[in-house]
Amino acid sequence: MSSKPLHVACIMDGNGRWARKRGLPRTAGHTAGEESLADVVRAASKRDVAYLTVFGFSTENWVRPRAEVRHILGLHKKLFGRIAELNENNVRVNWIGRPFDEPGSRTPLYVQRAIRKAIDETKTNTGMVLTVAFDYGSRSELTRAAKRIVANQTELTPANLQLNLYDASLPPVDVLVRTSGESRISNFLLWQINVAKIYFTDRPWPDFDSVELDAAIALAKN
Ligand code: FPP
Repeated sequence: MSSKPLHVACIMDGNGRWARKRGLPRTAGHTAGEESLADVVRAASKRDVAYLTVFGFSTENWVRPRAEVRHILGLHKKLFGRIAELNENNVRVNWIGRPFDEPGSRTPLYVQRAIRKAIDETKTNTGMVLTVAFDYGSRSELTRAAKRIVANQTELTPANLQLNLYDASLPPVDVLVRTSGESRISNFLLWQINVAKIYFTDRPWPDFDSVELDAAIALAKN
């Protein structure tokens, strides 16, 4: 059993099903999902989790109904706006995803601003790093890394590929969590999960709590 600080990654699935079961609109499920995430961030920051990386919005999620996309973007603004809480827990905010200046980027300015502000206002925190993957897709990340290597005429090695990822400093994932009974990877952190354990749970994301987090951490440490 090791006690090294861990990298935990989460695919937060099942918000829609959580809502449907309660006769609520899907958006209510996402709202509950954001609150669950805030709780998980707080809990993880108090455990030996050095990095928590969450799949907030994928490059594929833009095709969802407009109102749902707008609601999820608003929840990102809410999450990135929790600066006081993040600072209280010594959490540094980070983001990975398609760069805003890349052709095809669809991230609205208000989300860009919320991301930049949260990164800036938590940058001196020394505790857990919370990375939100927004407009993220792993194949796009890897293709971009390979293109940069070709453009720079550097050698294609695993170390150089790592250096050209959206965030080269993210360590390998120790445990990948996927909620809501789905056992797929969904184009998330394909490079970074090379040696990860995978923790699947039937619970939908809004019901994922610190007991589940501890079970995922225990799996990583075994
Ligand atoms: C999956 O639920 C979740 C998402 C599409 C991502 C959005 C996540 C949140 C809003 C949680 C809060 C996170 C942030 C970063 C603000 P689903 O709609 O796929 O659920 P379903 O499979 O049951 O329909």
